[in-house]
Amino acid sequence: PGQRYEAETAPAVCQGTIDANWAGFSGSGFCNGTNAAGAYAQFTVNPSAAGTASLGIRYANGAGSARAANLIVNGSAVATVSFEPTGAWTTWATKTMTVPLTTGGNTIRVDPTTTAGLPNIDHLDLGPTAG
Ligand code: GCU
Ligand code: CA
Repeated sequence: PGQRYEAETAPAVCQGTIDANWAGFSGSGFCNGTNAAGAYAQFTVNPSAAGTASLGIRYANGAGSARAANLIVNGSAVATVSFEPTGAWTTWATKTMTVPLTTGGNTIRVDPTTTAGLPNIDHLDLGPTAG
């Protein structure tokens, strides 16, 4: 099953607005990041064990081109992510990746690298930790 963290729920941070105007999101809304480099969305996850975990970030990108971001875990950039177009702002997709986590609170930030900013971000699903 794993654990779900909504982008609109503290202690998540959205550098933009929490919106609910495009259907299909979970919870009560999604993070509409400001269209600017560095306007990030951040989750704080609490895995039950340290190790490597797979996670999924659900997003919608109704724009015509992919939006790029750095994936920053506990302050360190661990990967780059490309959020490809989903065709409509109401069409949501999940980007999966693997990250190293410690026990306790871990910050996971998607930090856009271009002036396009992030796609709309719905939630993060954390899988079990291994290794
Ligand atoms: C539109 C859309 C927003 C989206 C934005 C963007 O304004 O309504 O939900 O965040 O485009 O391009 O990021
Ligand atoms: Ca936006």
